[in-house]
Amino acid sequence: MKKRILITGGAGFIGSHVVRLFVTKYPDYEIVNLDALTYAGNLENLTDVATAPNYKFVKIDITDEKAINELFATTQFDGVIHLAAESHVDRSIKDPLAFIRTNIIGTVNLLNAAKEQWSGNYEGKRFYHISTDEVYGSLGEEGMFVETTPYDPRSPYSSSKASSDMLVRAYHHTYGMPVVISNCSNNYGANQFPEKLIPLSINNIKNNRPIPIYGKGENIRDWLWVNDHARAIDVIYHKAANGETYNIGGINEWKNIDLIHKLCEIMDKKLGREPGSSAKLITYVTDRAGHDLRYAIDSSKLKRELGWEPSLQFAEGLEKTVDWYLANEKWLENVTSGEYQNYYQRQYGK
Ligand code: NAD
Ligand code: DAU
Repeated sequence: MKKRILITGGAGFIGSHVVRLFVTKYPDYEIVNLDALTYAGNLENLTDVATAPNYKFVKIDITDEKAINELFATTQFDGVIHLAAESHVDRSIKDPLAFIRTNIIGTVNLLNAAKEQWSGNYEGKRFYHISTDEVYGSLGEEGMFVETTPYDPRSPYSSSKASSDMLVRAYHHTYGMPVVISNCSNNYGANQFPEKLIPLSINNIKNNRPIPIYGKGENIRDWLWVNDHARAIDVIYHKAANGETYNIGGINEWKNIDLIHKLCEIMDKKLGREPGSSAKLITYVTDRAGHDLRYAIDSSKLKRELGWEPSLQFAEGLEKTVDWYLANEKWLENVTSGEYQNYYQRQYGK
């Protein structure tokens, strides 16, 4: 019998890379991509696999309990890889409830439907929840997050992800559900919606618009190429023991302002502009409320136990990312028309 895997949020940034990897690497699996196609979901991310015989798309909102239950009543799944979420911290500051609905209630709807379908017969089954390093809170200058670091989420987004992680663990301990969780650092790469720092800056530099840097630009993030995250998800899905948690990171910490200077250099080169001209667009703006200072993730458990490590150096990955956005102008144009303009106005004031 063919394995059937439900991937939620597969039309989004990370989800689309995971769907592509699974559809192409495992022709014997049937991959069902469930997505509500919110502003962040885009089937254009998946045109290359859309007609693959082992791929199917269903448009469902995970907050719709009835629709989720109907899907599970009619389709048997061996596994669920759950990425669907509201994912942008700034939006969570303006509208926390949307994050509670999708990230918490939506996750519980999926857990309940899987529990009901598998009804205690968990042989060969797996519920894999994709989470974030932001659940651990904010670091000072020293230290790294490990899997046992106590949760200390500080934004509505990270609090909603922390709640969903806790609920996934509760279903393991209470009902014996075969779950795994991974907590990853900041992803970058092709197809990321231009509300996040790197694609927003690429788009603004391209259009000679200000690059908004929150506060003093001294916050630090650890950056991982999205395809490496997808590879880690593949390894964890297939090899992790039930109940386990793995941190995933790039061993690649950057101060925001240093990262933006690096990006400006690459953009000057690619656009044939005078060196230093893109950096003139850097504009310091009001800081994000409750802005976490530093994230750093220790992913040595994943390397030691399952043999995964990042494959791409940041300088190369960033250049590849810039190349992708410059070669995919139409994609960028489509996602920045309409609602994006209203969002931009609300967030940045012009
Ligand atoms: P994204 O915002 O690009 O995509 C989210 C996807 O989920 C979209 O396709 C959207 O349509 C879908 N979605 C949203 N609400 C839904 C709902 N109610 N029902 C069904 N589908 C819905 O997000 P991303 O950056 O690809 O993140 C994917 C997952 O990975 C999230 O769970 C996020 O918390 C986690 N994560 C992201 C990062 C990162 O750097 N982007 C890092 C670590 C973990
Ligand atoms: O750490 C993993 C998390 O990384 C994921 O769970 C989230 O889904 C993902 O959005 C990301 O969260 P961040 O808040 O770190 O990413 P973002 O790209 O929004 O911001 C990165 C840093 O850049 C952060 O310190 C805020 C800053 N920033 C961001 C934007 C959008 C700016 O200075 N200016 C901006 O305009």
